[in-house]
Amino acid sequence: MKTKILMVCLGNICRSPLAEGILKSKVNSEQIFVDSAGTAGYHIGNMPDIRSIAVAQKYGIDIHQQKCRKFSFKDFQEFDIIYAMDKSNYKNIIALTSNKKDIAKVKLLLSESNTEITEVPDPYYDKDEGFEHVFQLIDKACNAIAKKIQ
Ligand code: 4NP
Repeated sequence: MKTKILMVCLGNICRSPLAEGILKSKVNSEQIFVDSAGTAGYHIGNMPDIRSIAVAQKYGIDIHQQKCRKFSFKDFQEFDIIYAMDKSNYKNIIALTSNKKDIAKVKLLLSESNTEITEVPDPYYDKDEGFEHVFQLIDKACNAIAKKIQ
């Protein structure tokens, strides 16, 4: 059976689409299913932010076809691991369940990498450098995940 991994941020247009695209580029899609969602519904149906599309493209990853969706309670049934980009996302996800098994599925993405930084910062109000920084943080964590699960 496939392992299903969900990447979650606030808007599902900047960080989690990058995390989805980056992890997909490192794992075998026959073994691992990767998706992303946002805890807020501001941008449902939209494509990722143009700055996320650009930084992904710089590293040979195409995320332009992704469509924003909102995280839902059903995702606890669907997914094996749910990665939150920051502590606020983590709290918003956990607030939707009181089931211990569901809660155990939720982790901070950067808990997978050996960095002092524990959260992927929200780059929405940043310039392009913010997106480069976010890409590098996510890339490092996804390398660790890919190594662990394959
Ligand atoms: P994301 O970034 O959570 O990484 O997708 C954001 C995108 C949009 C907004 C905030 C953060 N917003 O307020 O619309």
